[in-house]
Parts: sequence; structure tokens; C-alpha cells
Amino acid sequence: MNIFIRHAAFKVLLVAIIAVSILSCSQIRKLTYPEDFTYLEKEQVKTLMKQMGDSVGRLGQLVANDAKSETKQQQVLTELSTIESITARLSGGHEQTNQIFIRDHIEQFISDVGTAKLYVKTTPPDYSKAKKITNSCQECHQLR
Ligand code: HEC
Repeated sequence: MNIFIRHAAFKVLLVAIIAVSILSCSQIRKLTYPEDFTYLEKEQVKTLMKQMGDSVGRLGQLVANDAKSETKQQQVLTELSTIESITARLSGGHEQTNQIFIRDHIEQFISDVGTAKLYVKTTPPDYSKAKKITNSCQECHQLR
């Protein structure tokens, strides 16, 4: 075997070893966590809540006046989608008390955000439900 082939063979072996080790790691992860399980620490919940708060803040500013431009409609929809994707992350894994609490109340909130989106998509856009999203936050927070 000349030196070049040896070198190539070694590379192939190396790649194979790396591939196998990556694969086996993900196999082990699969054993410890089911695939759709997302465990959220208290701190992560807080971070996500803060992001929702920021988004709700922007949403509030957008719907504060009655102007009905197309850009505004798009921006409002963007914020609602941001909130929606955060709720999707919040509704994962329910091991801790705060998460069990979230599980019991997030459905209503998700549906409120969905309704708000539908209203905004009408022509002309109706921002009344989007304005009330803050109330939906409070429904959960008052209970605590
Ligand atoms: C499904 C219930 C639920 C909904 C809906 C909800 N929250 Fe929360 N929120 C919680 C829980 C539970 C905590 C406490 C997290 C902890 O301290 O463990 C929290 C904490 C927070 C915090 C405090 C974070 C910190 O640093 O302590 C803020 C701010 C917040 N939420 C904002 C919002 C906003 C804004 C909305 C609406 C977009 C909202 N929440 C909707 C359940 C909810």
C-alpha cells in the first residue's frame, strides 16, 4: 500500500469514528429524553416571559392609535406570531410546579392570541382583540 492510499484510508476511518460517536450521542439523548420533551428551567420561563413582555409592549404601541395601514397590520401580525412561538416553547415539558401551572392555563392564552391574529387579518383589520392580549397575560398572572 503506498503512503497516499494509507493516508486516505486513515481519513475514512477517522470520519467513520466521528460519525459513529455523534450518532451514538444522539442515541443516548433519545434514551434519556423523549424527543418532544423540552425541560424548562425557572430562569428560562422568566426569560421567555420577558420576551413576551417586550413583544406585548411593541404590540401595545402599534395598536395605540387607530391608523390602519398595511405595514401596521403586518407588524401587528409579526408581534402576535412572536408571542405565539414563545408560547409554543413555554408549553413544553411540565415537571416543575410553575410549568404545571403554565400547562393548565396556556391553552386559553394560545387561543386568545390565535383569535387576535384572525381579527387582525380581516379587511379592514380589527385590532380590538390584539389590544386585549395584555388582559390575557393578566388572567394567568392574577391567579398566582
Ligand atoms: C400560562 C400562564 C401565563 C401566561 C399566559 C403568561 N404568563 Fe407570565 N409568568 C407565568 C409564570 C408561571 C411565571 C413565573 C415564572 C417563575 O418565576 O417561575 C411568569 C412570569 C412572568 C414575568 C416575570 C419574569 C421574572 O423575571 O420574574 C413576566 C414579566 C411575565 N410573566 C410577563 C408575561 C406577559 C407580558 C404575558 C402575556 C404576553 C404573560 N406573562 C403571560 C405564567 C404566565
